[in-house]
Amino acid sequence: MIKPEFYIRDLEKCVDKEITICGWVYNIRSSGKVRFILVRDGTGIVQCVITPKSVSQEKFEKSDKIPQESSIIVRGRVKKESRAPYCGYEIELTDYDIVSTVSQEYPIALKEHGVDFLMNHRHLWIRSYQQNMILRIRATIVKAIRDYFDSNGFILVDAPIFTPNACEGTSTLFETNYFDTKAYLTQSGQLYMEAAAMALGKVYCFGPTFRAEKSKTRRHLTEFWMVEPEMAYYDLEDDMEVAEGLVSYIIETVLAKHEKDLIALERNVENLKNAARKPFYRIRYAEAIEILKKAGHNIKFGDDFGGDEETVLTKQFDKPVFVTHYPIEIKAFYMKRDPKNPELACNMDLLAPEGYGEIIGGGQREDDLNILLDAIKRHNLPQNVFEWYLDVRRYGSVPHAGFGLGVERTVAYICGLHHVRETIPFPRLMDRLSP
Ligand code: 4AD
Ligand code: MG
Repeated sequence: MIKPEFYIRDLEKCVDKEITICGWVYNIRSSGKVRFILVRDGTGIVQCVITPKSVSQEKFEKSDKIPQESSIIVRGRVKKESRAPYCGYEIELTDYDIVSTVSQEYPIALKEHGVDFLMNHRHLWIRSYQQNMILRIRATIVKAIRDYFDSNGFILVDAPIFTPNACEGTSTLFETNYFDTKAYLTQSGQLYMEAAAMALGKVYCFGPTFRAEKSKTRRHLTEFWMVEPEMAYYDLEDDMEVAEGLVSYIIETVLAKHEKDLIALERNVENLKNAARKPFYRIRYAEAIEILKKAGHNIKFGDDFGGDEETVLTKQFDKPVFVTHYPIEIKAFYMKRDPKNPELACNMDLLAPEGYGEIIGGGQREDDLNILLDAIKRHNLPQNVFEWYLDVRRYGSVPHAGFGLGVERTVAYICGLHHVRETIPFPRLMDRLSP
């Protein structure tokens, strides 16, 4: 057996013990007769100290020439050392073995590189300290999402990825051959969740979704992960309560587990702590338009917000803000009309503060069969492919609501990242399909 017995994240439990760490060489420094090998093992980075006395003469001499990212097994005694970088512990080495020596220069040396170069080397870039931390925070966020729904009475229902029809509008579909017909990669599991909510009450799906959006912005991926809850007998207000509960829980969970990591990423954690406090703000679309006009934007009632508007709008709020009641004209066919004003939708977007913008889109669904039939016509959608969806209204229709939260935008907001490309292990963008 060679599996590691200890990991760097557990060093606090190993003080004064002699342990073995299996990892890779992150960096090496020398200071007089002392050498410091920084070793990473995927859970952290630890400084290992070598002196001429601590290992054989041969190993001491070789120790400052081990190429970066060579794989290494180190043995030694763990010491608490507040000055030690990254973890506050160091290992006084008694021995080490190289598993595989890197024989050509590691492409991502510890210096500045352009984003394109780093993206081309994404398979290696994810080894670096910051990227590594972001991926760990992403994993915490995904788990927090699942925990929130699983512990609040929601049933996980997996939605299909091959679909026969559009959910969010036909212009952003990836088409693929499906035997002797066409299929599309899913844009959203929502329509399936609506059917599932009538079967199981409160449900959610969580998986990859695809949008052939020709947008090269810091907020758009062509493949992203979305969690989509759907609840029978819920209205827009109930829906926002779920969304607020979820986002607040995600932020609190990340803060509890990763406060130090966030600080290392230079994220302002006080802002996040404040943002986690419920209730979030609630404004109507019409108010948002007024705020934007005051800020000097050339925008009028009926326009949709672009990224720039979202940035400006959300810089004015210190917590997430729901924007509700958009004009029905600019929204998807399934949105419920506001009974008080049928020109408006019973919908909401949740915008993250500090310029981040939309992380959630959702709302109440049209539950009236005839109004829905009309909407399908108005949107020029083929009714035949929606017959199964219309059955949800034919057989025991009830008010219901749900939303979709994009994982990558949430990670970007919580980690304080400018662009979503660093929030997913291997991003798919309009101009990037590899590695
Ligand atoms: O607002 P959207 O398009 O809503 C829906 O898909 C609904 N059917 C969801 C539902 O009600 N069940 O997308 C929801 C969220 C956005 O707020 C955003 O966070 C994310 O999905 N998103 C994207 N993330 C990255 N890249 C893209 N191209 C995205 N498009 C949407
Ligand atoms: Mg949206």
